[in-house]
Amino acid sequence: MTTQLRGAQTAAQNGGPAAEPAIQVTGLTKIYGPRGGAASKSSGWFGGKKSEAENKPKAAADDVSFSVAPGEFFVIMGLSGSGKSTVLRMLNRLVEPTSGELLIGGRDVSTMPEGELRELRNRKINMVFQHFALFPHRTVRENAAYALHVRNEGAAARAERADWALQTVGLGEWGDALPRELSGGMRQRVGLARALASDADILLMDEPFSALDPLIRRDMQDLLMTLQRDLRRTVVFVTHDLNEAMRMGDRIMIMRNGRVVQLGTAQEILNTPADDYVAEFISDVDRSRVLTAGTIMQAPLVTATEHDDPEDVLRRLSNVEGVGAYVLNDEGGIAGVTRVDLLAAAVGQHRTALGQLVTNEYRAVDADTPLADICALVGRNSVPLGVTDADGRLVGVVPRATLLAALATPGKDDSSADGARKDNGNA
Ligand SMILES: Nc1ncnc2c1ncn2[C@@H]1O[C@H](COP(=O)(O)OP(=O)(O)O)[C@@H](O)[C@H]1O
Ligand SMILES: [Mg+2]
Repeated sequence: MTTQLRGAQTAAQNGGPAAEPAIQVTGLTKIYGPRGGAASKSSGWFGGKKSEAENKPKAAADDVSFSVAPGEFFVIMGLSGSGKSTVLRMLNRLVEPTSGELLIGGRDVSTMPEGELRELRNRKINMVFQHFALFPHRTVRENAAYALHVRNEGAAARAERADWALQTVGLGEWGDALPRELSGGMRQRVGLARALASDADILLMDEPFSALDPLIRRDMQDLLMTLQRDLRRTVVFVTHDLNEAMRMGDRIMIMRNGRVVQLGTAQEILNTPADDYVAEFISDVDRSRVLTAGTIMQAPLVTATEHDDPEDVLRRLSNVEGVGAYVLNDEGGIAGVTRVDLLAAAVGQHRTALGQLVTNEYRAVDADTPLADICALVGRNSVPLGVTDADGRLVGVVPRATLLAALATPGKDDSSADGARKDNGNA
């Protein structure tokens, strides 16, 4: 592994945030209603025969702990009623936690005075719901500027900010329209624009796309992922759709009956489901569509720069029994690929510029490319498939064996395969 490529892995992929978490939750628990609500009232009819345990109200969120790194896209996934919305709403105290600790940007929210809490809700955190309440008699621009309106910003600043946000979500032309002139998908974009215009660091999104039909939904997912890449807000995104969760999330927290059953990257969850419940859940996931080149890539064994000495590169390649290496330009982009035979022929000939010893025999894809789209590209050249970031820098490679291991479903072909499951996880 070369040191220059180690930074390609995010803090999230390394198993935990390195900087101060944007959100830190410890033992958060919510039990709705006072004891003595409907459940215990009815028990009176049975002469109090029910045990203590039966009378005890069920926790909607039960001892939930997690932390979210700044800029992370964190997904809470689970079936309906598993406690996702409850957890999300506790993050800005729309729902008051029964117990547990909640820090936002290092500040303890549970003890925050009302005024500061309002400030937090108005400025730092923005919530996007499944059904946006757009004001029907106000223009799209005014709707997008809602958060700024709430905090009394001037009309000119509001309009400017709202127009930027509308532009960003592809509704630049629609500022003067009324909500009823927009389609459902466009209205959802206004909601997204509203969140962006608010300038909040943290976006809480509760199934924002669930009501949209599949094609528009996919567009909105793409849009949100693109925005996230550029704007780097911290997002906590709730969904009951595992494919959506895996597609969007840096990490995913799976909930069941108010409890966290697993927290990890899509790949970790697919390779090592925490229990049978999760295993059952992921059996329907199309791994080739969910996993991307970026999620499975490895650091290349050897890379070279255009200024390197061919003999040195040859030696480094020989050490790992490699036959080819990516040659990077000064920006970290791919200048080409060199091979051992080209290098060997040049050694001793004083024709030493490595830049002259490259071919274009390689294929590279963007880190977001699903595995389904890279199958045909691997294993064809002397170097593994290259993976580049949005700026064209080489951030990793996908060797053929890595791709095959990632596509294999753990325990599918050998049902007694606890061991195999672990092996796959390590491949
Ligand atoms: N305001 C409430 N009062 C009482 N019980 C509630 C309330 N909101 C949610 N619940 C219950 O808490 C549990 C979790 O609900 P919720 O957080 O909405 O789950 P999800 O968002 O995953 O569908 C469910 O059993 C639900 O019925
Ligand atoms: Mg919900």
